Amino acid sequence: MSRKLLIATGSKGKFPEIVKELGALPVEFLSLADLGYPADYEIEEPAMTFEGNAIIKAMTMGKKSGLLTLADDSGLEVDALGGRPGVFSARYTPGEDADRCVKILQELRNVPDGERGAQFRCLVAIYDPETEKVRTCEGIYRGRIIREEHGTNGFGYDPIFYNDELGKTNAEMSMEKKNSVSHRGAALKKAKEILIKEFLN
Ligand code: IMP
Repeated sequence: MSRKLLIATGSKGKFPEIVKELGALPVEFLSLADLGYPADYEIEEPAMTFEGNAIIKAMTMGKKSGLLTLADDSGLEVDALGGRPGVFSARYTPGEDADRCVKILQELRNVPDGERGAQFRCLVAIYDPETEKVRTCEGIYRGRIIREEHGTNGFGYDPIFYNDELGKTNAEMSMEKKNSVSHRGAALKKAKEILIKEFLN
């Protein structure tokens, strides 16, 4: 029987991206919903770094469930805002994802086209409660913030994050395409190798 891997995220947008990227692994994927947690369940993120929060999330849910657990912490870092919203991306302003996009667009309204660079950063942590082993890996994805929202796919800041090479926002890409270029895709590719070499043998 294959080993269970808990994907410790309450984010509706992240879970399918993670399973899509790790799909080929010989594990049974479990979501928090599969363990009976409510859809709006939030794991605390008290750290000031992505790595700190990813480790806390993986360890908290790994200890509670007794399962091999993978968690990510990620966010948007805007050059002209000195790296904000960073670890506060999910809580940058109250309301929905769309409200947070509007806030960024407003903050950047006077920033010229050449200075609108930004990046997504993703830290993945893997924790095995049987051995107490923790490993992390990181992915970064650079682009720029456009002046209005485009596209309806994805989640979070995807409609305002533009990829010049592909000529579209994240929200105009298929999930496969986004995973092939994104911060989460890059971190998960590394995580897949780490899982195979260090946790599933
Ligand atoms: P957390 O990692 O659950 O704390 O939240 C990360 C937040 O960063 C999300 O709620 C989004 O606002 C933003 N974010 C992270 N990754 C992405 C992405 O791939 N696309 C768009 N927004 C993202």
